[in-house]
Amino acid sequence: MLDRENAIRILSEYGQEHIMKYYDELNDDEKKELLGQIELIDFSVLDNLDAEKNSNSVRGTFAPLGAVTINDIAKNSEEYIKTGLEAIKAGKAAAVLLAGGQGTRLGFDKPKGMFRIGVDEELYIFQCLINNLMDVVKLADAWVPLYIMTSEKNNSDTINFFREKNYFGYNPDYVRFFIQDMAPSVDFNGKVLMESKSKISISPNGNGGWFSSLVRAGLLDEIKTKGVEWINVFAVDNVLQRIADPGFIGAVIKSGLQSGGKVVSKADPDERVGVLCLEDGMPSIVEYYEMTEEMRTLLDENGELAYKYGVILNYLFNVSKLEEICDNKMPVHIVDKKIPYMNENCEFITPDKPNGHKFETLVLDMVHMQDSCLAYEVVREKEFAPVKNATGVDSVETARELLKANGVKI
Ligand code: UTP
Repeated sequence: MLDRENAIRILSEYGQEHIMKYYDELNDDEKKELLGQIELIDFSVLDNLDAEKNSNSVRGTFAPLGAVTINDIAKNSEEYIKTGLEAIKAGKAAAVLLAGGQGTRLGFDKPKGMFRIGVDEELYIFQCLINNLMDVVKLADAWVPLYIMTSEKNNSDTINFFREKNYFGYNPDYVRFFIQDMAPSVDFNGKVLMESKSKISISPNGNGGWFSSLVRAGLLDEIKTKGVEWINVFAVDNVLQRIADPGFIGAVIKSGLQSGGKVVSKADPDERVGVLCLEDGMPSIVEYYEMTEEMRTLLDENGELAYKYGVILNYLFNVSKLEEICDNKMPVHIVDKKIPYMNENCEFITPDKPNGHKFETLVLDMVHMQDSCLAYEVVREKEFAPVKNATGVDSVETARELLKANGVKI
């Protein structure tokens, strides 16, 4: 365990000595708590505030990337589904649910998956996802191993909820939970925020660390023993998400490419969605705010948007490649968020507007570490109903409408 002097030495390297301001007035347990946190936290993430050190700010040359379109898929669906189902039956596919986020935009104080999306029916977000996965389980007559990433903040709530609800009919032998890493939060001056005199404000470090967290949790051995070759990673908040979709898995296998990403055609050039494209010849995702006006409106030879295919956070990765890139450093994104904190008068404040930065790595950056990626176009209205906000765009309301339109009783 760190002692007082070493803690101060580490913090002074990063200009964060204020963290120890109240140390001498803490009791022994609180002192231990604070020193324990300082020991565990990787403060080097703060270097990313320095634009020059933030590798993320430098991007390569972008070029459009085509997709297997809805029409292509319709023509080959039988073959794709057959190949995908064979892989699932042979135990070669698993799914990873990214559920470590805090869902601050929704403003729900429990894990987002516990949100009741049903109006008359007692239907929860987690339940929608399990129901969707069950369609595949029935078709393949085989359980798909499901790994659920939580964070320290929502792990026990999530596990208890699944137990209480009997895993919504899923086979618990095929479900595992693992906890992602945390990162410190800072104010707009780059000073680490405190939650109390003995507690540093930390938050989940983004969804990009899912594979390394899974490895640290000791689950890779199990994955390899089971013979899993493909992992479908998906977000908690898309209630129409097709998970371990045999057509998608089959198309990626048949294509011989190293990974796949489900995409939807952009509704209009200005839609705020990341686009699957090429960056210096490698697959990549360009965020909407990184696209120039020219890129946004560029047309291809058919008069369609050249940068047309928006990602919906549903990717298929190959386990061998994931192992190879596991230790690669991922770009760190700095995001502005509302972060509860202790102010200079030692009062606990819950801000109503963003008051600082969090540091996140993103799963989409893993796409750029792949040699190739198949963009697989799906019908937006059938597969994309994200619950990000309480009202308005991508909200509880819009998701409910889409569920109804797809025949789900809510
Ligand atoms: P979002 O980017 O929507 O973030 O996550 P969020 O934290 O859930 O919500 P806001 O921005 O605070 O409103 C996309 C997906 O990545 C997961 C989320 O649970 C969601 O499935 N995620 C996000 C993690 O698993 N860990 C994280 O640290 C962040």
